Amino acid sequence: SRVKKIAVLPGDGIGPEIVDEAVKVLRQVEEVFGYSFEFEFAMAGGGAIDRVGTPLPQSTLDLCKNSDAVLLGAVGGPQWDENPPDLRPEKALLGLRKGLGLYSNLRPVTLFEGMEKSSTLRPEVIAGVDLVVVRELTGGIYFGEKTRVKTEEGEVATDLLIYHEHEIERIVRLAFQIARGRSKRLTSVDKANVLESSRLWRSVVQRVAKEFPDVELEHMLVDNCAMQMVRRPAEFDVIVTENMFGDILSDEAAILTGSIGMLPSASLGEGSLGLYEPVHGSAPDIAGQGVANPSATILSAAMMLRHTFGYEEAAQSIENAVRTVLRRGHRTPDIALSGQMAVSTEEFGDRVAEELVHFEPTPSIPLE
Ligand code: NAD
Ligand code: IPM
Ligand code: MN
Repeated sequence: SRVKKIAVLPGDGIGPEIVDEAVKVLRQVEEVFGYSFEFEFAMAGGGAIDRVGTPLPQSTLDLCKNSDAVLLGAVGGPQWDENPPDLRPEKALLGLRKGLGLYSNLRPVTLFEGMEKSSTLRPEVIAGVDLVVVRELTGGIYFGEKTRVKTEEGEVATDLLIYHEHEIERIVRLAFQIARGRSKRLTSVDKANVLESSRLWRSVVQRVAKEFPDVELEHMLVDNCAMQMVRRPAEFDVIVTENMFGDILSDEAAILTGSIGMLPSASLGEGSLGLYEPVHGSAPDIAGQGVANPSATILSAAMMLRHTFGYEEAAQSIENAVRTVLRRGHRTPDIALSGQMAVSTEEFGDRVAEELVHFEPTPSIPLE
């Protein structure tokens, strides 16, 4: 259908502030490009626990299933940190990912022009960074059986790291395809020197690699990868890894772009439905102050236009607008240069939306 239905889950902490800016930019996309979006807001996370007693109400999951795409802010906060496992805000995210079958998580890490000085890393180290972390999202230690028992010697807890061959195969094949469309280099990250699940991972990667002889493959142990990521980050192109390694490495990679507030993500499955959210969390330490960087969420909206709707030009126009606004030095406190006045969350969103107007859509029917 022409009207695209977007489920919007602002969540907790800075979630509502950053989602507002992404929705603002999407409304501007409607104006500039003539697309139509229908936004439907719903509860998820801590707010949902407080109001209806569960982090992911069935009505929210149903809304997402019946939407074309989901835009999520962030969930979580200290007030729910002592809650039992099923009453934790993070359960909403895990339930959405599993419930919607979103097994692949794309986390592009791009250093925009002029952002070198906003990072705590040296400019010459991060120059040219443009990589993507392809994270497995519905398997591994996040979803394996968990136990906790009291024994005579104290409590014992376990988290099972489990992978089925087919779960590895589908994410690895996707990563090879993505690498084929980029600079044809893939780094598979594991801990095969210790973990059996990693040895299975590596053997599946080797098998799938035969279908992609044009892609240069390397295997790297996760501890070494964490180090190489800050030593020579520009040499990475596509990184594929299991759920928890991908979680940790992507937060590390965020600093290559200047701030965790810059990193968007797309979570995809077999169909076109996707969940789009920033890589960062609900940032309770800065919530409610209007200082959060909305770039990651705005760029996640761009990924939605690209991956779910196929609106490539509109996606690029958002990315260009963010790039331009940053280059002009309009930056939130996390990336503001010393001596420069930082802009607020809202002001940043306004500027990006204004900038969109300057990009004219190319007519799809060539004018003779
Ligand atoms: P966090 O990502 O929320 O914050 C880490 C640090 O980065 C904080 O200092 C924060 O102020 C800063 N930061 C994060 N996003 C920012 C932004 N957009 N602009 C400027 N600064 C930003 O991680 P945390 O503090 O470890 O976790 C806080 C809560 O968020 C926890 O409850 C956690 O479970 C949850 N969390 C949720 C998600 C999600 O919803 N996708 C992701 C990660 C963490
Ligand atoms: C992320 C977050 C989540 C994860 C948490 C909040 C469950 O850190 O999206 O990176 O670990 O996947
Ligand atoms: Mn994370």
